Amino acid sequence: MLLNRDEISGYQAEIEAVGEAFFGDATASFIKYIIGNTNTNNSESHRRVFVRTAGSRVVAFLILSTVLDESEILQVAVKKECQRCGLAAALLDEVFDFCRKSGISKIFLEVREGNFPARLLYKKFEFEEAGLRRDYYENPRENAVVMSKNLSVSGAEKPKK
Ligand SMILES: CC(C)(COP(=O)(O)OP(=O)(O)OC[C@H]1O[C@@H](n2cnc3c(N)ncnc32)[C@H](O)[C@@H]1OP(=O)(O)O)[C@@H](O)C(=O)NCCC(=O)NCCS
Repeated sequence: MLLNRDEISGYQAEIEAVGEAFFGDATASFIKYIIGNTNTNNSESHRRVFVRTAGSRVVAFLILSTVLDESEILQVAVKKECQRCGLAAALLDEVFDFCRKSGISKIFLEVREGNFPARLLYKKFEFEEAGLRRDYYENPRENAVVMSKNLSVSGAEKPKK
């Protein structure tokens, strides 16, 4: 579900709680920035927030940044007890759909070199490794793998079997 600004505000604490477990206070900083720089219907925002909920609770989120016809996945996280249920895959499907409809033809992301669950997720969705940023992350220091995916303008993005 793509959130508008009011919905982001309503879910703020829950999104931050899901993100904090993996990214410390970086998620809270992103959300605060987005709320402060988004108009009500989201049309002028270059950062967007997608969530998956269970009942009324946020269990997964993805933050997407867009400039012209390129987007970057800034963060994606799924609550630990809800992982391996297809939530990240569903968020990626929704993002691909959003990008295609918005004329976005390329998606980038960075991922810790040792984050194999995430790298397997992106590989399954046919992101390709585009480079390495040495010592990009702190605490712990680690290389970032840069990945990218070209989006077709028609047809659904199907993961590899
Ligand atoms: C990476 C992450 C987002 C995956 O979320 P998820 O909802 O568990 O992933 P899904 O259930 O949609 O899995 C889709 C595919 O990703 C891969 N995958 C996901 N988690 C995996 C794991 N622990 N081990 C191996 N492959 C994994 C698999 O290919 C999987 O397909 P399959 O279930 O058919 O084998 C989740 O582990 C997470 O939140 N991690 C912490 C935050 C993070 O590292 N975010 C990414 C960096 S920004």
